[in-house]
Amino acid sequence: GDVPIGIHDLSVATTQYVLTHRTLADRNGTDVGKYHKGIGLMSMSVPAADEDIVTMAATAAAPVVARHGADRIRTIVFATETSVDQSKAAGIHVHSLLSLPSAARVVELKQACYGGTAALQFALGVVHRNPAEQVLVIASDVSKYEMGEPGEATQGAAAVAMLVSAEPALVRVDEPSGVFTADITDFWRPNYRTTALVDGHESIAAYLQALEGAWKDYTERDGRKLDELSAICYHQPFTKMAYKAHRHLLQHCGHDVDEAEVTRAVGHTTGYNAVIGNSYTASLYLGLAALLDNSADLTGRSVGFLSYGSGSVAEFFAGTVMPGYRSHLRSEAHREAISRRLDIDYARYRAIHEHSFPVDGGDHFVPRETTGPYRFAGLSGHKRIYER
Ligand code: CAA
Repeated sequence: GDVPIGIHDLSVATTQYVLTHRTLADRNGTDVGKYHKGIGLMSMSVPAADEDIVTMAATAAAPVVARHGADRIRTIVFATETSVDQSKAAGIHVHSLLSLPSAARVVELKQACYGGTAALQFALGVVHRNPAEQVLVIASDVSKYEMGEPGEATQGAAAVAMLVSAEPALVRVDEPSGVFTADITDFWRPNYRTTALVDGHESIAAYLQALEGAWKDYTERDGRKLDELSAICYHQPFTKMAYKAHRHLLQHCGHDVDEAEVTRAVGHTTGYNAVIGNSYTASLYLGLAALLDNSADLTGRSVGFLSYGSGSVAEFFAGTVMPGYRSHLRSEAHREAISRRLDIDYARYRAIHEHSFPVDGGDHFVPRETTGPYRFAGLSGHKRIYER
């Protein structure tokens, strides 16, 4: 189709609390340089007991709906790998909290961290079919590993809400996409576990293999050349992964690995992920938010996207930054969402990490902790209760 379709609005939300890697390092005896320089993380977002993927999602989506209205939104696609119910889509809670029209379809998508891109592609298809419609795409996750495991330092939590429409104000999503799937168990979470399992070093190798595969398919479909891309947003389980991935792609394409060139391509995409940690499905789009909010004018430039979800699925595609995009950004609100978080000490972090609700079907209400606009009020009769 000729009508440009893409990301019309982009809004980020995160949690009430933040744990610095300095605090974690002091406690577990790790040299903080491993965190700050080795994996490229400064702090991680930690949800309060009355926050979860739904409250973050509603917080991210509310300003989007406030700005554009909901008249054209007939589809809400919620991507997550840390869902709150095996059956009901988390997006229905968001639909309710934001009083969206009943004439809407709501669905949840899952394939590890790739789910956000699956949701975006789903949305592009819906808008392509009827360019008068808009789709609300939400990616929201809380990353949780066992304490003391290597993954612990890469935890985090955030949501991204994107409005996908024709004539987008921010980024047009271009054809083609390069896709790749391999059956591998590098990172996974069985239904009976609240924390993820991972073979850390194998997962990095799997990511790089999937990047190669998606890039191969992308180039075979006549995608852009590497030097035509002003920046690349990579999925960032930790920010150094973006650097690793870009070095790998340069080598794979037969280019010299010039560190200044690597920094130019990915440096502006890491600002939010470095202080939020891994937000799984949202991570790639936090990379886009940081790039748009914090780099020099990108009007007309091509930006690459590499989405990776363990298991594994990857997709490489490009977008074009639209003229006038800067007046539609939410840079100030994003900085505020990050800076408003309250620092917690190790004991508080540990208590939050160990907390779980009884699963007996009784009434279990949580005292108010979050100062955000939406909260998870607790469980009653096995039902989740949310309130404004
Ligand atoms: N100062 C500076 N750098 C230091 C250092 C110090 N004191 N100590 C160590 N480092 C460096 C190391 O040299 C290493 O750098 P390179 O990767 O460039 O070699 C880096 O810090 C990490 O050190 P280790 O590899 O020894 O660390 P680790 O064994 O604790 O594992 C990890 C790191 C594998 C990322 C681990 O945190 C982990 O398992 N994370 C979860 C899994 C993950 O994020 N996988 C990514 C791919 S899968 C994916 O993308 C999906 C997803 O979202 C999970």
